Parts: sequence; C-alpha cells; structure tokens
Amino acid sequence: MNAINRLAAVISLASLLPLSAIAANGTVEVTHWWTSGGEAAAVKTLKEQVEKDGFTWKDNAVAGGGGAAAMTVLKSRAVAGNPPGAAQIKGPDIQEWGALGLLTELDDVAKANNWDALLPKKVAQIMQYDGHYVAVPVNIHRVNWLWINPQVFDKAGAKVPTTLDELFAAADKLKAAGFIPLAHGGQPWQDSTVFEDLVLSILGPQGYHQAFVELDESTLTGEKMVEVFKTLQRLGTYMDPNRAGRDWNIAAAEVINGKAGMQIMGDWAKSEWTAAGKVAGKDYQCVAFPGTQGSFAYNIDSLAMFKLKNENDIKAQNDLAKVALEPQFQTVFNQNKGSLPVRQDMDMSQFDACTQKSAVDFKEAEKGDGLQPSMAHNMATSLAVQGAIFDVVTNFFNDPKADPATAVKQLNSAIKSAK
Ligand code: BGC
Repeated sequence: MNAINRLAAVISLASLLPLSAIAANGTVEVTHWWTSGGEAAAVKTLKEQVEKDGFTWKDNAVAGGGGAAAMTVLKSRAVAGNPPGAAQIKGPDIQEWGALGLLTELDDVAKANNWDALLPKKVAQIMQYDGHYVAVPVNIHRVNWLWINPQVFDKAGAKVPTTLDELFAAADKLKAAGFIPLAHGGQPWQDSTVFEDLVLSILGPQGYHQAFVELDESTLTGEKMVEVFKTLQRLGTYMDPNRAGRDWNIAAAEVINGKAGMQIMGDWAKSEWTAAGKVAGKDYQCVAFPGTQGSFAYNIDSLAMFKLKNENDIKAQNDLAKVALEPQFQTVFNQNKGSLPVRQDMDMSQFDACTQKSAVDFKEAEKGDGLQPSMAHNMATSLAVQGAIFDVVTNFFNDPKADPATAVKQLNSAIKSAK
C-alpha cells in the first residue's frame, strides 16, 4: 500500500467511528497517592466521571501516605520529559512547578465554570501561578483530629480528652485495660503530623504560624518548642513500639477493630471508617486534637495540570479539571474521602457528623488566626524545608533517650540550611 492509500484507509476507518468518540477519546494520566481502601473508593468516583464523559483515565497511583513516593516518581517523570497530564501537587509546591514552566493554564475552564466565585479566596490563590489557574482543588482536609473508638473507651473507663492532660489520662486508662492507647505508623510524615498537632496545641495558632510559616528562629528554639518535643516523646510511650514503617490505614484499622483506642490523624482517616461501614458519631468519634479547639490546620488536595501536546488529551485534562469542582463529584468524592467539599455552596446535610463539624470549625477558625496551613501536608513550607523538619522529628522520635533541648537546636539549623 502506498502512502496515499494508507492515509485513505485510515480516514475511511475513522469514518466508521462516531464523531463524538473521535473527538472525546483523549487520555488523562493522573499521578496520585490515594491507594488505601477509603482513598481508592474516593478517587474511583473521579475516574468514573471522566470515563462517563468519554475520556480515558490512566491511573498512576503511587502507594505511600503523605505522597513522598509519588513526588519522587513525578520528579523523575518530569526530568525525563514525560510528565502525566495531572498530578496531586499541593500548596507552595504548585508555585515551584509553575516556576519550572511545566504547568498549563486552566483559565478557560475556570472562567466557564465560575471558579472565582466558587472557591474561598485563599484557596483560589494557592491554585494560581503568576495570576493563572494551574491546578484544581478537590477538597479541604483538616489535620488536627483525634479519632476515637468509643467502645474501647467504655471498656477502659476512659473519658474523651479535650486537653493534653486529659489525653494522657485517657491513654493511661487504655494502657491499664490492655489496649494500645495510640495507634500510629512510624513514618516521617505521620510523626510530623503528630508533631504539628502538638505545636498547634502548645504554641497556639499564632505560634504555629511563626514556627512553620515564618520559620521564626526564636519560636523554633523557644521553651514552648522544647515542651512540644518533650510531649511528643511522652506520647511515643503510649504507641506500639513495633510501629516502624506501618501505614496510616493499618494504624486506623487497629482503632476500627478495637485493638487501639485512638489515632491522631487528619480526616482522611475517616475514609477508612467509612469504607468499613462505620458511622460517625455512633461507631466512632472525631474530636479536635486536644488543645486545638477553634483551630483548623488545613490540607487542600489539588491536581495540577501539566502542559500536553495532544489536543484530545488536553480535552481530557480540561474535563478532569471541570469535573473536579462539579457539585455531584464534590459530594460523592468528599463523602468517601472524609474531607470537606472545597466549593462553598454545598448542602452540608448530605455529610456525616464529623464533616459537618469540620465545616462549622472551618468557618469559626476563618474568623481569626485559627486557619493555618498544615506543615506535614505540604501546605506551609517548601518541600525542602518540610523534609528538614521531618528528618529532625523522626530521628528524635525514634530515639527514646533523645534530648528535647538539643532537638530544637537541630530543628532550627536544619531549617536554616534547607531554606
Ligand atoms: C493527602 C491526603 C491523603 C493522605 C494520606 C495527605 O497528604 O492530602 O489526600 O489521604 O496524605 O495518604
């Protein structure tokens, strides 16, 4: 067959397909780290919607809570000149990818779908690079939660804690009754999730801001920060000594199955309770991490979009961006994910008691300084500074004899050299 004939054959084959199939048959590849049972159920709702719109979803799920492994994969793909169409990138990191010139503008989709009006201003700013939308947010997670199994608490005669002292009192009761007081996975991001909750509790939201947003030296090395490390060390004595490397969802399962009484974790933990068929307020309780009532450490999941060449793939990418903020998707995704919808006009009666509480607390925190970006979940600092904090916290936590006063100095100098 000569070239003209080959072309003719391709054209006549194409004419057999319906026009919509040809136009809509782009692919969007999505790099993310939603791989636990609950997370997978949530991301499935996005995949299904994109497929319903006639596009192909190519899943690039990289296991590893907190996303460090996914970020490594993403970087190597970008370096090889082969980034996915969309990737779970959050907070200040969006600016770093934007500055590399790799992200595409989503302004048309944003305008057509009224994103400026739908999103809180703060959230809209995070999604923009140089004044243009380059990412779409899907939710708002709250990090400073404590998850409780009330049956275990009843058996141990423990009381739901509202202060750090009460947390230790409850932990003592649980321990005496033979339960693991605090389920935990020994991975750097999980250690730092607990650490940031303690900073919020002991330093308050302003101190938290000075420590993790301003990276203020006197706050980082102050007496209260020494107290944070001391308290972290004490909390560690109520955790399973075999926790090293354990995934967060395995720790969540220990609370769900009644082996442990509590877990300190963001509200993606709720996705595991939901996937296990448990009901908020009945089978489990969610309370603000003791001492952080009125504060809300936020963690916004977002999908940043990379520049693509193929027109059909760009259509698929734009569809993903549009779908992510549609009310139907915002409802089912967040019901599964444990988070708050990021759209401000949603009917919250469709959500359970924990998410409704989260919505009320978000509004309350927004009025003052209570709303703070999560350090452990990429919202407060560059990933380099975050990595420096993770190293110091995890090294400290893995050494029961480590000295809190030395740790604050190490924290300060590690941050300084990572800046
Ligand atoms: C992400 C969540 C995810 C959690 C555990 C967080 O950093 O924002 O979406 O569920 O990590 O993997």
